[in-house]
Amino acid sequence: MADYANETSGLTTSQPKRTTRKWLWIGVPVAIAVILAAVLGGVLGSRAHKNSSSSSSNAAAAGSSPTGEAAASQAASIKQEIGVFPTGTDSQYLLPLYPSTTNTAAYTTPTFHPSNNAALAWPADPFQPSDPSPTSVRSDRPRLIAPAYKWEALSKLITTDPYLKVWNETIFGNASVYYNLPVVQYHLDGGSGILDNAREIKMRVKAFSYVYRMTNDTKWVDRTFKELQNAAGNGTTPFGPDGQDKWNPSHFLDTAEFTAAFAIGYDWLYDAWTDEQKSQIRTSMIFYGLQPGLDAYSTGWWFGNIKGNWNCVSNSGLTMGALAILGDDTSGIAEQILAKSVPNALENCVFAVSSDGTWAETANYWYFGTTGLAEMTSSLMTATGSDFGLLTNNEDLGKTGLYHMYVTGPGSLFAYGDHGPNKFSTTANSMLFWGDQLKHPEYVLFQRDQHDAPEPNSMFWYNPTVSGAFWDGLALDHVFDNNTDQWAAMRSSWTDEDALYVAIKAGTLQGHQTHNDLDLGDFVLDAMGTRWAGELGSGDYLSPGYFNSDDQDAQRWLYYRKRTEGQNTILVNKANQLVKAAPSIKFDSSGTKQDSSTVLQVPSDSTAYFTADLTSGYDNVSSFKRGIRTINGRKQVLLQDDINASGDIMWRMHTNATVTVDGTAATLKIGDKTLQMTILNPPNGVSITTGPAVRFSDDPPLPPDASDQENPGVTVVMINLPAGTYSLQVLFNPQWAGMSASDFKTPPAVAIDDWSLTSHN
Ligand SMILES: *[C@@H]1O[C@H](CO)[C@@H](O)[C@H](O)[C@H]1NC(C)=O
Ligand SMILES: *[C@@H]1O[C@H](CO)[C@@H](O)[C@H](O)[C@H]1NC(C)=O
Ligand SMILES: *[C@@H]1O[C@H](CO)[C@@H](O)[C@H](O)[C@H]1NC(C)=O
Ligand SMILES: *[C@@H]1O[C@H](CO)[C@@H](O)[C@H](O)[C@H]1NC(C)=O
Ligand SMILES: *[C@@H]1O[C@H](CO)[C@@H](O)[C@H](O)[C@H]1NC(C)=O
Ligand SMILES: *[C@@H]1O[C@H](CO)[C@@H](O)[C@H](O)[C@H]1NC(C)=O
Ligand SMILES: *[C@@H]1O[C@H](CO)[C@@H](O)[C@H](O)[C@H]1NC(C)=O
Ligand SMILES: *[C@@H]1O[C@H](CO)[C@@H](O)[C@H](O)[C@H]1NC(C)=O
Repeated sequence: MADYANETSGLTTSQPKRTTRKWLWIGVPVAIAVILAAVLGGVLGSRAHKNSSSSSSNAAAAGSSPTGEAAASQAASIKQEIGVFPTGTDSQYLLPLYPSTTNTAAYTTPTFHPSNNAALAWPADPFQPSDPSPTSVRSDRPRLIAPAYKWEALSKLITTDPYLKVWNETIFGNASVYYNLPVVQYHLDGGSGILDNAREIKMRVKAFSYVYRMTNDTKWVDRTFKELQNAAGNGTTPFGPDGQDKWNPSHFLDTAEFTAAFAIGYDWLYDAWTDEQKSQIRTSMIFYGLQPGLDAYSTGWWFGNIKGNWNCVSNSGLTMGALAILGDDTSGIAEQILAKSVPNALENCVFAVSSDGTWAETANYWYFGTTGLAEMTSSLMTATGSDFGLLTNNEDLGKTGLYHMYVTGPGSLFAYGDHGPNKFSTTANSMLFWGDQLKHPEYVLFQRDQHDAPEPNSMFWYNPTVSGAFWDGLALDHVFDNNTDQWAAMRSSWTDEDALYVAIKAGTLQGHQTHNDLDLGDFVLDAMGTRWAGELGSGDYLSPGYFNSDDQDAQRWLYYRKRTEGQNTILVNKANQLVKAAPSIKFDSSGTKQDSSTVLQVPSDSTAYFTADLTSGYDNVSSFKRGIRTINGRKQVLLQDDINASGDIMWRMHTNATVTVDGTAATLKIGDKTLQMTILNPPNGVSITTGPAVRFSDDPPLPPDASDQENPGVTVVMINLPAGTYSLQVLFNPQWAGMSASDFKTPPAVAIDDWSLTSHN
């Protein structure tokens, strides 16, 4: 939601709402020119870029539609003129801040404009084998992700592409910071073994190698070697146990990520290493990485029928390691690994993306799995000239970028289930790769504005011929309807940090690699730049039984954050939902799309809703449907539960807000923002109550020595009802700036079965 007062006045302007926040990924703010739209009297907001200037030749040309090289060259000059689109990064949620402006020249339909001009586009890869094989690699180095011809082209592209320019600067800055840090110290983290170590080393090795190749300064080679030697146990302080389990192959992700780090260091700096150094890196990588990896193909559960991040990360690290040393090592292990990793990933990893694009595990695990798959696919393509079907075997792989975009709200991810370990070398930059390879320019445009965009992979995955704005023509709402997923997102804008965002889920409770919660009906709500209803995240991964099973009696379901009571949904008799639930859903949307402007005037009849029959998730419930919808031009949200239960009913929502209850209404405050919630048509005697986000005293006990995590600052808002039949309607009214009490609507009471796009007008 943009500034409401300005929306109603019909002007595309807005006042700055926050103090200025600088780019997280630009040390020095860049001066950026913004082209004023020639039409509609678009007025620049005061949040616009520093060097705002009206112009221009390009705006004038926007009416015509050149093709071919002319189109590429026009797109390039618009790109040069406007620079990076966002003005900064939100300091809390790390999402891009867009100026409130109309720019019909730059903010156009997402498009690639292929070009033969070496200043605008990557040249074709000179390595085009006619009969590619995973063991037949290009003759020059590097082989992995970033072949020599791209390094040669890069300097010129950096001068013409504002994103490549700031990413390059940021990577240099990051590498300089890492340079002065001590080598990564071995330490077991909370539940993931030494995965943090592995990913931090991988992140550093990539940055050091990048800067070396861009400068030829061998101090970066020396610093890389220091890091690799340390991780091989040859540094000045010990690194893990002696023997072949140094890289913790029992938690194989660690082993795979170390292998990937060594592979990149070996390959990207190939020409800079002495023969002795190469031999040392190879020896350690084979002994601690590839050999345990080869064994794991017969012993590791993650190479079985596992559609999730473990399969992707493991196959990816081993593939990169094998490709890096192929030909240099004559033991045959690289060939043996590749004979297994490629078919294994084709059968498993790629199907972690369901038919609607949703990642099998969670919104956060998407990062790990897709980074692995993209690095594996990209490495194979550059090293051997083929993806061997990794891009096509799952015909719905390309939808996973859509998943990531919709699961990202202005208050950060709809982060259901486990959140996963620290990310370090893991990013959302596979979006740049899928976008380019699978022809989704909107993915490239979305990701290039994100805080985690600057890292070496991006420099090579980014297709600089992209133009337009990801939001231009993008629907506000989307449903993901595979039965394993069943979730929807609805919003009031793609470019307003204050937008309304609602996301809600049903979906099966099993089949998510034991990373999900018992959370049918769980939702998040963002408005006015903050999250009002949110997620608690992971429990302690080292808790007894945390990952053992997702059966009804699993220990996992004893932990508050995984239990139904830890979700924003309905409890009956305080019991967990039933893991065998098979919900059905319905979704409809006005189909509202954002246009070129970053300021969307939401039509008053624009709406979306999602309803789910969750009866099968409960004992002692003869029927239960939950529905959520936007009303009043997406300024308010109605959450309704039509339920008939023979047990006690409890409505729960977790919030960071300070909550003041007044009978059937409550006032939620976060900072200087306020949200009112009200029970409409309240059943007799009902009221809102609040409590801490902790387990019930009569919950089944935790395993001995186990405890729940604290949830500091979180309040649970509750509505308790005795057994019976109800239509419980809760209305959320964010107190938007400039909106007065009379501007809010009270919707009619409509049974969920009768909901339609117009039922609440
Ligand atoms: C890289 O540098 C940017 C800009 O200084 C900073 O915001 C970011 O946190 C750094 N990234 C890492 C991973 O250190
Ligand atoms: C990349 O960034 C560094 C550090 O700011 C700079 O010295 C270098 O010139 C940049 N490279 C190019 C090709 O612009
Ligand atoms: C680094 O060395 C390579 C190979 O000699 C050369 O092609 C490249 O231009 C050099 N780069 C810089 C920044 O000096
Ligand atoms: C580490 O030391 C071992 C034992 O001397 C040696 O085999 C290996 O090549 C060394 N690796 C690195 C990266 O220094
Ligand atoms: C859901 O996605 C999975 C994984 O891609 C697929 O196997 C299954 O067929 C899909 N189900 C439907 C109903 O499309
Ligand atoms: C509370 O705020 C934190 C930080 O933004 C967020 O991660 C968490 O999900 C929020 N919790 C709830 C219950 O909204
Ligand atoms: C359902 O109700 C019965 C009878 O009151 C009770 O024994 C049972 O524990 C209830 N089941 C759940 C899951 O609440
Ligand atoms: C609620 O469910 C019970 C048990 O199935 C049924 O007897 C009763 O008629 C239902 N009540 C309503 C109002 O539908």
